[in-house]
Parts: sequence; C-alpha cells; structure tokens
Amino acid sequence: MELSKEVSLQSYNSFNITAISPTVYFLNELTDLEQLPDLTSKPFYILGEGSNTLFVDHLAPIIIKPNFKGVDIVEKNESYIVTVASGENWHELVNLCIEQEIYGLENLALIPGSVGAAPVQNIGAYGVDFSDFCVEVKWFDFINKRVKTLSNQECNFSYRNSIFKQALYNKGIITEVVLSFPKKWQANLSYAGLNDLEIVPSARQVMEKVISLRSAKLPDPNVLANAGSFFKNPIINENKLTDLLRVYPNIPSYRQQNGQVKIAAGWLIEQAGLKGYCSNGVGVHQNQALVLVNYSSNDGKEIVNLAQYVQQQVLIKFDILLSPEVRMVSAQGEKSFDSLLVKDERV
Ligand code: EPU
Repeated sequence: MELSKEVSLQSYNSFNITAISPTVYFLNELTDLEQLPDLTSKPFYILGEGSNTLFVDHLAPIIIKPNFKGVDIVEKNESYIVTVASGENWHELVNLCIEQEIYGLENLALIPGSVGAAPVQNIGAYGVDFSDFCVEVKWFDFINKRVKTLSNQECNFSYRNSIFKQALYNKGIITEVVLSFPKKWQANLSYAGLNDLEIVPSARQVMEKVISLRSAKLPDPNVLANAGSFFKNPIINENKLTDLLRVYPNIPSYRQQNGQVKIAAGWLIEQAGLKGYCSNGVGVHQNQALVLVNYSSNDGKEIVNLAQYVQQQVLIKFDILLSPEVRMVSAQGEKSFDSLLVKDERV
C-alpha cells in the first residue's frame, strides 16, 4: 500500500477542484486491504476516477483509492464470463470486450470512470444499465476483513442506485465485478439516436454511434471540467405528467415498469432558460443542460451554488425538485446536497 500526505486532488476529480486530502491510501494489491487502518471513527471517502464527485471544500477527507487491475475472460457454451478488477477503466473494458467479440456493453461506451464505480451508481446509457450484465460483485468487508460475494439481486440495483450507496455505504470496498454476456447477441437500439442506424448494425457500429452521440453532446472532461449528468432524471406520477402535458405537449418522458414516469431533467433545465447560463466561472453546458461545467473556478461551492440556482428555477417553473446524481464531498466526508444549501433570497 502506498500512502501520501497533504495531496492535492485536482488531478483526481473531473471537476478539476483543488481540494487537499490529509492522507490518500492507494491500494494496488488485494493484500493492501489488510493493511488499511480502522477508519470507522474518521471521515473518509472511497474515490474511483473522480468523474462523479464534487469536492465542496478546500479540504477533503481521508481518501481511499483502489487501483486493483486485471481482466479474466472465461468462455462457456452459451456465454462469456468476464471478471474485472475495480481499478480498471470502464471505457477500456468496453473496448476490450468488443475487440474480443464479446458483445453487450457497446451502449455504455465512453462513460467516464472506473469499473468499481459502475455498480455503485448502476451506470447506464442508451437503454442499457450495468445491472443488465452483472452477475456478482466482490466486496471487501471492513468489519470481517474478508471479500464477500454479492449476487445481482443482493446489490439492489435501481436507477443510478445500489446497496453500495445505501446499507453498505463506506462499510467496504468493491474489488471485482463479474459480468456475463450471452453469445447470442442482439443490438439494443431502443434509444432515440440509435434507431437511425442500419437495419442490423454490428456491436462495433453501435459503439461507434454511441461514441459519436456522446462526443457531440457531452463535454470531454479533459477539455472542459465536468462530471457528466449533474442531476438525476426525476420520476413523477401519471397525474403530474397529465398536468404537464397540457402545457408542454412535447415534454420528453419515459414510462417506468411501476407505472411512474421519468422526465428528462436536461429538457426541464433548458425550458427554464438556463442552457448556456454562466456565473462565477461555472455554468450549464450549452449542448446538454443536464451537465454543469467548471470553466475556471477552484471552488466546488460555486458548482453547489449553481446547482442550487438550477434546482430553484426548475422548481419554480415545473414544481419538480431535481436531485443531484453527483456525490458531494466535504472535509467531513460525503454530504447530502440539501445540507450544503444556503438560504437564498432569489426564491
Ligand atoms: N434534452 C433537452 N435539452 C437538453 C438536454 C436534453 O431538451 O439540454 C432532451 C433531449 O432532447 C432528449 C431528452 O432530453 O429528448 C433526453 O436527453 P438525452 O438523450 O441527452 O439523455 P438524458 O436523459 O439527458 C441520460 C443519462 C446520461 C446518458 C444519456 C443517454 C441520467 C441522469 N443521464 O441523460 O448519463 O448518457 O441518458 O442514455 O440518467 C451521466 O450519467 O453522466 C450521463 C451522461
């Protein structure tokens, strides 16, 4: 295990915020886990590639940074079983699978972040979720100091959520994920943007289309600091949708299995007049209003202030409360968005 003191996290978060952590534990081997001190009484945060994290103070808590590597592929009669260490990069895994003619992850191309972060928020895009392929997650339990195996069901996956954000939060570390890909493959072209592809595209063609769609709309964090979608798409009930449709017949909505309806937060933000809005070095992206960008600020609080403003404007116009997808981390550890908000006279 490597240990560094007084570390600037600027290169470890895609919002490019210069928070300082008192100690960063870099875990390179599984055996490093046994050497981790007991951190239960101290604030700490497990950081992947930092592409969904906002440091809101100039100080950050203790950071644990898993960097386990390795991919193992086993061919079965009807499927491939792929076991991947949590420190691998997600997009490199998607590429590797396509190269090996293992298909299924093509819709999830170019999602920033590590493999270990994928189950935590059940990443998803273009009609496909991580949970569709996950068989098991291996997780090191801080209490028993042993790696446990959680089945897909035990992970409690839902939209951008899992047990790792809930009951198992900060109680251990994901070390590996086990994925299964049936050899019988069919392209998932349900999502707008993919349905204008050739009649039967190859998995590589689907991946290339996803890459071109994402590159056209979403800013590259290496060029313009951001953490992808800042808010989750809100879920409303049928009555609320009926009310909204009377005024906004074109509102993008996606019916859920439980009868509720998911609404495009990016559309709500754009309709609230905020697409391209800028203030104090941060702003709402001009091509995808769901993405908040950092042009020049060193202070994560500016992003929080902007997010609060966006939340308020959408609430005033639509009576819908957006909640962030991005995780907020202060010197005292992870915080809820609400706990960071200041009372604002603009409401
Ligand atoms: N829209 C607007 N204005 C905007 C943005 C979107 O009108 O500024 C409309 C679009 O025209 C479309 C609808 O809203 O009708 C949905 O937009 P889009 O297809 O871009 O997807 P999204 O719902 O905004 C979600 C994920 C993205 C994922 C895309 C594609 C969440 C929070 N976000 O965004 O995930 O890439 O679908 O599947 O679910 C991420 O999590 O970081 C992320 C980028």
